[in-house]
Amino acid sequence: MKPSTIKFDDLSLPGAPRIAVPPPGPKSKELLEYQAAHESSAISYAKGMPMAVRRARGATVEDADGNLYIDCFGGAGVMAVGHGHPQVLKAAHEQIDLVTHALDIPTQARKDLGEMLIRALPKELTRLFFGGPTGSDAIEQAMKLAKYNTGRIPFIAFEGGYHGMTAGALALTTTASHKEGLLPLVPEVHYAPYGYCYRCAFGRRPEECSMECTQYLDRMLTDPHSGVMKPAAVVVEPIQGEGGSIVPPARFMPNVREICDRHEVLLICDEIQCGLGRTGKMFAFEHTGTVPDVVTMSKALGGLGFPISAIAYRESLDTWPTAKTIGTFRGNMIAYAAGAAALRFMMESGLLEHAERLGLTALKLLEALEKDSPIIGEARGKGLMLGVEFVTDKETKKPAPMLARRMRTLCHQRGVMIEVGGHYGNVARFLPPLVISEALLRRAIEIFSDSVREIEQNPS
Ligand SMILES: Cc1ncc(COP(=O)(O)O)c(C=O)c1O
Repeated sequence: MKPSTIKFDDLSLPGAPRIAVPPPGPKSKELLEYQAAHESSAISYAKGMPMAVRRARGATVEDADGNLYIDCFGGAGVMAVGHGHPQVLKAAHEQIDLVTHALDIPTQARKDLGEMLIRALPKELTRLFFGGPTGSDAIEQAMKLAKYNTGRIPFIAFEGGYHGMTAGALALTTTASHKEGLLPLVPEVHYAPYGYCYRCAFGRRPEECSMECTQYLDRMLTDPHSGVMKPAAVVVEPIQGEGGSIVPPARFMPNVREICDRHEVLLICDEIQCGLGRTGKMFAFEHTGTVPDVVTMSKALGGLGFPISAIAYRESLDTWPTAKTIGTFRGNMIAYAAGAAALRFMMESGLLEHAERLGLTALKLLEALEKDSPIIGEARGKGLMLGVEFVTDKETKKPAPMLARRMRTLCHQRGVMIEVGGHYGNVARFLPPLVISEALLRRAIEIFSDSVREIEQNPS
């Protein structure tokens, strides 16, 4: 099935966006109030986009009051093949009828997903380990594997990186607000500057860049007085997600790979968000000509949001003895079946080419908006992982987190779901299902642009 033959609009609910009742409507309110009364105060997405969800298809979501939204967040990048994709749903249903839990004992579904992953991964990454249900768990497994193989404890991660919420993953994450009151987590994690050219840590403009960021990483590993003991691994998102959809310069990843090789340090690529088709390639590191030693995966891996995570790594690292790392949920039967069906659809339908082409179209529209808006510092991204950074002033680049949050609210009220991220919480983020049609994405960006105009006219 090639993209020309897929009717992307048919995968989504017709008529979106359609706001019949200003959200949250009465039915949504009732569920939100129940949640507020009985669940943790840490709940967050439901506060940013106050609604209750009734059903979802493709790149559209219907709330409990019948409002229809264009989903440009896709469950934080989980819904690559879209909500309720028919082939994937069928595979999940069939698996539910067969068997739903089998520890790490093999099943056909487990083999099917394994085979699809081995087909998708570079030939150097031959070993798979299916972990617990979340991306954070994949990060913990990758850290454990690196420590076990190198006998070293320290890690280097990057400023702006987000790797999850469990102790090890949170230690690699740099978001201060997530860590406040919880330190110490794990010892000896150090942070290098990322290739975030809009806010270069060294004050360079792209035309005067000598890749000071990766030079600094090299210095951390070379200078005996850098304060950094030789790490087990460098952990990097080839394209930063929560950090604000940041695409580093072309030399960034090859330099990081070369530095890791020269210092005999493992390279872990966190592809939990940017992987599995999101950027128009199966893995974001493929844009850079590099191959990591370990890759972490989750989010889109479970096909329709069934929770699962995995790491893939080089054969030489497969030194673990039996039961060195165990758990009740090592994989997920329904996620295997759904994930294998989703990956098959991705590879055989030309979905990645669709995501790449649509991403370019969307980026052009957002860049045009950036050009003539005084409150947009930069529009950026790759494939369908896009971000728009809001500032109060284009010269000073002062971050405007309030504007990004207002954008989320205005878009939501008009039937478009987006999220907010970035170092300063000032980046509006687009992570739509890759099956979004061009018409729906253009409509979402039109609504986004109208909301920018409204804020420009009434900035406070
Ligand atoms: C790059 C990256 N790594 C790790 C994680 C953690 O995944 P999870 O929330 O499933 O634990 C995320 C979540 O957003 C992520 O974006």
